[in-house]
Amino acid sequence: MKIGIDKIGFAMPNFFLDIRDLALSREQNENKFTKGLLQSEMCVAPITQDIVTLGASAADKILSEKDKKDIDLIIVGTESGIDQSKSAGIFIHHLLEIQPFARCVEIKEACYGATAALNFAKNHILENPESKVLVIASDIAKYGIGTAGESTQGAGSVALLIKKDPKIAVLNDDSVCQTRDIMDFWRPNYADFPFVDGHFSSKQYLDFLTTTFCEYKKRHNKNLLDFNAFCFHLPFPKLGLKGLNSLFSKTENLTKEKKLEFLDNFYSSIIYGKRIGNIYTGSLYLSLLSLLENCQNLKSNDVIGMYSYGSGAVCEIFSITLVDGFKNQLTNDRIKDFDKRKRLNTSEYEKMFFEQIKLDKDGNSINLPQDDSLFYLEKIENHKRIYKKIK
Ligand code: HMG
Repeated sequence: MKIGIDKIGFAMPNFFLDIRDLALSREQNENKFTKGLLQSEMCVAPITQDIVTLGASAADKILSEKDKKDIDLIIVGTESGIDQSKSAGIFIHHLLEIQPFARCVEIKEACYGATAALNFAKNHILENPESKVLVIASDIAKYGIGTAGESTQGAGSVALLIKKDPKIAVLNDDSVCQTRDIMDFWRPNYADFPFVDGHFSSKQYLDFLTTTFCEYKKRHNKNLLDFNAFCFHLPFPKLGLKGLNSLFSKTENLTKEKKLEFLDNFYSSIIYGKRIGNIYTGSLYLSLLSLLENCQNLKSNDVIGMYSYGSGAVCEIFSITLVDGFKNQLTNDRIKDFDKRKRLNTSEYEKMFFEQIKLDKDGNSINLPQDDSLFYLEKIENHKRIYKKIK
């Protein structure tokens, strides 16, 4: 049975910060961020946007009424949970009016969560061939004002509809994972922002990539030349480029033309991430969307390598094969949505960054700002989050 990605949706908050404005405010040379990290903008979320509103918006863009009847499993991959107990998937299930006899869960392993969700989705469909699974990768990345990681923040959500006979790409049976107990990036329950050992984390990302790819080649008797493009988890786009270069350095008989093709495809895959920032679980899938919507030379049966990395750390390398007509499932003018966002100056961004929901003694929110997004947090009532959809 062929199981894979049938539709991909994406949603982001309506605000962004230009990375050059951040550089100016932090007295850094802007080239450090624009060339050293290859970042140009980052999305900023107001308090009325969270993993639920972003996830619901991403999925709402792709689901038909029939999909809502067929989905019987929703898995949200996230590390920006809004509740220690209740799954964000349940709120999303309600907001999207998905049929009631469904299972909803949330999954966590840093940026790797959504890839684990894809695996579970695939196994679920193997057992229930007529079902559809909604996988949502939703996160808001916040490191803190003035920290080294600040220029790599972002916010957004990718929704993937998984089913048999998919219209975009088949998930191949070739996953290779690796796990090591390391402390490169983590967020204890008592901390609002993660602790991160930035340079160590980047080294680990690259070491996981090369050692896992070595194992992948051994197990499947394949090498880089068996792929047409490679998508990476992008904490910042430059690290993906370093990853691609490290794969080049281990590939024999790589012609100049093939190398240029990989590089060309790589630059297509970072167009969206450069303007959104790190969206943790969704970052790899945003690279895929960016590649598919911006690369002119991909065709059906092309194979795309996928590198998923979640700090802590777990990684996975797997591949997908494009199917006939995949372009029909995509749009070619998404960049217009990016241009509609409001550009914040640094002080507006800092104000938004520190904004907290104020509660009265009974757990009711006081004066949440207005939000004209499709889904938004309307209020908190007696400690319960109440979401709304603009009609
Ligand atoms: P830093 O230490 O301040 O920056 O922050 P730097 O000094 O390493 O400079 C960055 C790059 O800019 C370097 O390039 C500089 O040379 C260059 P490189 O040498 O590495 O190629 N540079 C310049 N280039 C041109 N003109 C200039 C200039 N100045 C400097 N004038 C750091 C970098 C990555 C540490 C920081 O951004 C950070 O802590 N980020 C957060 C952690 C992170 O993203 N880690 C990545 C791997 S871990 C991961 O992917 C998992 C994650 O997504 C979380 C999860 O799984 O949940 C993070």
